[in-house]
Amino acid sequence: MLDTGELRERFQQHYRIHPYVIVRAPGRVNLIGEHTDYNDGFVFPVAIDRATFVAARPRTDRMVRVVATDLNDEDLFSIDQIERSNRAWRNYIRGVALALRNAGHTLLGADMLIASDVPRGAGLSSSAALEVAVGYTFQVLNQLNITGEELALLAQGAENTFVGVQCGVMDQLIAVFGRADHALLIDCRDLTYCAVPLPPSVAIVVCDSHITRTLAASAYNQRRQECDAAVRALQQWYPGIRALRDVSEDQLAAHQHELPEPLRSRARHVVSENRRVLQGAAALEAGDIATFGQLMNESHASLRDDYQVSLPDIDHLVTTAQSLAGCYGSRLTGAGFGGCTISLVERSNVEAFRHDLAQAYHSATGRTATIYVCRASDGVERVTDIARPQE
Ligand code: GLA
Repeated sequence: MLDTGELRERFQQHYRIHPYVIVRAPGRVNLIGEHTDYNDGFVFPVAIDRATFVAARPRTDRMVRVVATDLNDEDLFSIDQIERSNRAWRNYIRGVALALRNAGHTLLGADMLIASDVPRGAGLSSSAALEVAVGYTFQVLNQLNITGEELALLAQGAENTFVGVQCGVMDQLIAVFGRADHALLIDCRDLTYCAVPLPPSVAIVVCDSHITRTLAASAYNQRRQECDAAVRALQQWYPGIRALRDVSEDQLAAHQHELPEPLRSRARHVVSENRRVLQGAAALEAGDIATFGQLMNESHASLRDDYQVSLPDIDHLVTTAQSLAGCYGSRLTGAGFGGCTISLVERSNVEAFRHDLAQAYHSATGRTATIYVCRASDGVERVTDIARPQE
């Protein structure tokens, strides 16, 4: 975890005054339930023990000044005139400020300093962590009455409309509601969730392939359109459905041969993945880690063959992990086209697993993977109250 004392120090050096508050919002890794959130379906993520921190202090005018310590860059904008910047990171902050303003919240300016240990662009939701951390900072500084759901939706809206990525709501929801040592079974239609304890004997091992997700944004948006097209096609037989979430595997099987490709395969992934999430959460709740791991493996196969968001080197990482001692299951996690895999591994096997996986990946691809053992952590929170705003 980043040192909040050091963050406070840096804020003080920069602004010549101490911060009023430090907020942290975590990155995430999804155990199972990929590409289901924007189909009104089910997901099962955990918030990880890597987070974005914002140290902040309110201003009396309407300017927002932001220092991004990791990027060695700064931003300055007025709450009254929020425009898109050509530096991507700035749009997450500006977008959240605009979303809050558009939702009718009254904001004052602020001085902020941001630091993060969520790897950027690796598929661990550094963007959602930033959006939620900034949104919550504005909430605290302006004493806004905002529910966790509203915060997540505002952050997602900022990413959809201001940053221009059509992401679902999973990443923002888990950044808000994450619970230490638990995964959350989230229903992305009504945003209700249920926390399922993680078995202490098992480690969550995340492996960053360091394959840059170049295709991710365009292919992601394309998958979304294909799902919408599949719903429209299926409405011929099932006029009551609103999303792939409403289609059962039997209903799909009855008509899948009448759906053109790739809609047939895309729908098959989403419909079967929703079932796997529900079965997986129930298995984990019952302590049946083996079944959960098997469902993770099936999820990967479905993402590779039906949803077509994997890559050969990611498949290699996953099959290697699946073959190692103590591994219950492994799959790609997040949007795909590079990024990270997730494996559930018996704790006593973790060191050997890390070593063998890194070595096999390096000899097969020449790349060096970064492997993290993650602890499930809490969602967004105020880490410290340091001084009252008027001090
Ligand atoms: C990205 C998006 C999420 C979700 C996943 C795929 O992380 O931000 O909303 O759709 O991809 O499950």
